[in-house]
Amino acid sequence: MTNQQPDRVLIFDTTLRDGEQAPGCSMTLAEKLRVASALRDLKVDVIEAGFAAASPGDFDSVQAIATEIHGPVICSLARCHPQDIERAAAALKPAARKRIHVFLATSEIHRTFKLNMAKEEIIRRAVEGVRMACQHSEDVEFSAEDASRTEPAYLAEVVAAAIEAGARTINIPDTLGYTVPEEFAGLFAYLRRNVPGIEKVVLSVHCHDDLGMAVANSLAAVSAGARQVECTINGIGERAGNGSLEEIVMAIRTRANHYGLTTAVDTRKLYPTSRLVASITGMHVPRNKAVVGENAFAHESGIHQDGMLKNAATYEIMNPEDVGISRSNLVLGKHSGRHAFRDRVQQLGFNLGDEELNAAFAEFKKLADRKKEMFDGDIEAIIMNAGSGGQGPWEMAELHISAGTGAIAAAAVRLRHADGRTVDEASVGDGPVEASFKALERATGINLDLRNFEVRSVTVGEDAQGEVTVTVDYNGQIHRGHGVSTDIVEAGALAYLEVINRICRHAAGRSAVAGAAGVSVVRL
Ligand code: KIV
Ligand code: ZN
Repeated sequence: MTNQQPDRVLIFDTTLRDGEQAPGCSMTLAEKLRVASALRDLKVDVIEAGFAAASPGDFDSVQAIATEIHGPVICSLARCHPQDIERAAAALKPAARKRIHVFLATSEIHRTFKLNMAKEEIIRRAVEGVRMACQHSEDVEFSAEDASRTEPAYLAEVVAAAIEAGARTINIPDTLGYTVPEEFAGLFAYLRRNVPGIEKVVLSVHCHDDLGMAVANSLAAVSAGARQVECTINGIGERAGNGSLEEIVMAIRTRANHYGLTTAVDTRKLYPTSRLVASITGMHVPRNKAVVGENAFAHESGIHQDGMLKNAATYEIMNPEDVGISRSNLVLGKHSGRHAFRDRVQQLGFNLGDEELNAAFAEFKKLADRKKEMFDGDIEAIIMNAGSGGQGPWEMAELHISAGTGAIAAAAVRLRHADGRTVDEASVGDGPVEASFKALERATGINLDLRNFEVRSVTVGEDAQGEVTVTVDYNGQIHRGHGVSTDIVEAGALAYLEVINRICRHAAGRSAVAGAAGVSVVRL
């Protein structure tokens, strides 16, 4: 029996599993721990920490999160295979509250072409998987992959068998982002009418955004009785992504008069968590993104501004403060002290330890010498930079550029490595950006194929900092990095170096776990 309150929607965050599967979004173990602690502070109910059997690195991340993050239920995905379930159980062992999430595809197309299994075989495997998972954890979830394209009567049979076998949560994914809200609500209503025992379990929804309807479909399922939503920060995930956590949570909260439901999420942490995930993955949040985009609370037209001055409710349905965006955009300067800086950092929703705060304050002082006014965006950029590019192993000690119209651009870099080495290199290029990138490649020995280079201004004013995002291909894998500086060539070089560092850290992580015998590498 579930003891969940009927008006409470559980938030199951899968940023670290489905989100991390998005091209270019892979994270190191340290990065995953940072995201997991932000998710704990956000008060999500379940953190899907990874797919323990997928690789030794995934196992280590699930285990580290299970050891260090207390509060939410920690979950690992597993196929209905004994080895997968055992790996999930072993990785989750240290968790005080754990869940094994087993899944098996049910649609005809998956049965025929992917699994080559008959309907009965799928039911048998699902039951075995759930039963086996129940031997390791009392909290077991079953997902019928591609449920929205499965024959409803057959889906009802599979779900009934999984409940009978002991699953406490039944997840109905729209794996391909194919369904539409009315149809999906109809499927949930059908299952609630036709599956014996369904009232004993939590019904869950998991949507992808291929047709841009992941949030709408998730909310339609909630209206039809789903009481768990699986989603990701910023909607990152396979292909077009997953349902966006911040949009689902704020829709439930803002339209409480319609849904009559609540979540436990501390919505003031939504914006900082969104920025953290964007910074770690290098996957930018579009300016016009609902809830956490920069323009989400910006008013440009005179009529709107006038209305806002008279009463903010004329043109705002949510308070920016409620999602962790500060309206004041208070200006700090080079004379601001550590106390004022710490207060601002806290108001922006960041929870920094003493060491992190000191490092960020030192950067703040350096930047304040170069900039007249320091805005919230500058402070966020400092904190984010300290968390990603700042992890090394390479650190930019010096960058010299010479460029001009009609002149060959040249760049010289001095890099310091965590092992104590200092490397100097120089290069020419078609422009200062290319010259600096080539110099960095020579210095580190890592050659990247640049796919995209974007610049945007972090704040306003002539001396605003520029934020550069680079997208590169390295051995067929897409990586993103970003850098911030008042000088955009330097910002570009920092972004490029961040990607190089990310690649070095992944390589170090892989070689540290290489040799773990008998562990297969699986990607969904
Ligand atoms: O999209 C999907 O079907 C999934 C399942 C593994 C839950 O991610
Ligand atoms: Zn998914």
